[in-house]
Amino acid sequence: MRLRKGMLLGLATVALAGCGDQEAYDPESGTSAATMFEEGCAHCHGQEGTGKFGFLLSLEDTQLPEEGIADMIANGTGIMPAFPELEEDQRQDLARYVTDL
Ligand code: HEC
Repeated sequence: MRLRKGMLLGLATVALAGCGDQEAYDPESGTSAATMFEEGCAHCHGQEGTGKFGFLLSLEDTQLPEEGIADMIANGTGIMPAFPELEEDQRQDLARYVTDL
């Protein structure tokens, strides 16, 4: 019984931590776009940008220009979270990375 409770608590903590650090994602400057994508975006958009939940979140054929993507990363969409902690050049790197997917 004791063991079970501990396991449940552990699971809940992991789940909460998973949600929490998404919004405050703040990679060191110099982190590669591929790493930022993997750490900050892939859990929704998939490792290769193919969309974790199928075509809906696919970034492969996005029509958005790099500018628009960088804006989106800065401000979010209401559904997609914003990444206010990313520096300007990190957003540009990511935007370029996404258009190359
Ligand atoms: C919590 C899930 C989530 C995370 C994390 C996330 N996104 Fe998104 N993203 C979405 C959703 C949902 C949409 C589509 C909804 C919308 O357009 O409002 C979207 C849309 C986009 C689009 C627009 C695609 C198009 O063609 O319309 C781009 C570009 C994008 N995301 C890039 C990124 C990048 C880069 C990151 C990492 C910095 C990221 N997203 C992280 C959920 C997420």
